[in-house]
Amino acid sequence: DKDPRIHGIQSKIRVVPNFPKPGIMFQDITTLLLDPKAFKDTVDLFVERYKGKNISVVTGIEARGFIFGTPIALEIGAKFVPLRKPNKLPGKVISEEYELEYGRDCLEMHLGAVEPGERALVVDDLIATGGTLCAAMKLLERAGAEVVECACVIELPDLKGRERLNGKPLYVLLESY
Ligand code: PRP
Repeated sequence: DKDPRIHGIQSKIRVVPNFPKPGIMFQDITTLLLDPKAFKDTVDLFVERYKGKNISVVTGIEARGFIFGTPIALEIGAKFVPLRKPNKLPGKVISEEYELEYGRDCLEMHLGAVEPGERALVVDDLIATGGTLCAAMKLLERAGAEVVECACVIELPDLKGRERLNGKPLYVLLESY
């Protein structure tokens, strides 16, 4: 059943209607970060799940995946690899494009940051359509890594993003409708 800490975490996420566009209920995690107890509980729940699972690399997706991914990586003793929006990384990169509601976007990863055979965890704040996590997993698989799981704080189940992950396990702390 649900961990008692999850209710406290949920209560700190501010839902902002019609941001950044009409009809979008924006899930604002900055209010969670203002509460050290709820922020720590969030990180701890992931650390408790992934510690001892032999994960060698945590990848965080720009920008909010960095906030949760880095403390998880430190606590489980894994390296951290940022997956960035285009033209931010200075070294050689591999890129994956993905569909947005309007247009396309792209994620990039430094070549050589992840080695073949590594066990990877993908972290982001939220899964909506699943396009972003799907692109992240493709980058890791192209690098020869094994994606153990994707982990997000929030899932928007109505958008059925989980179905785009090709059966890869997704762990979320809470759902928002
Ligand atoms: C948001 C969120 C996820 C992504 C999820 O990021 O932080 O990364 O959208 O959407 P999807 O499941 O439909 O792909 P956003 O694009 O707003 O970028 P930002 O974190 O850099 O602001």
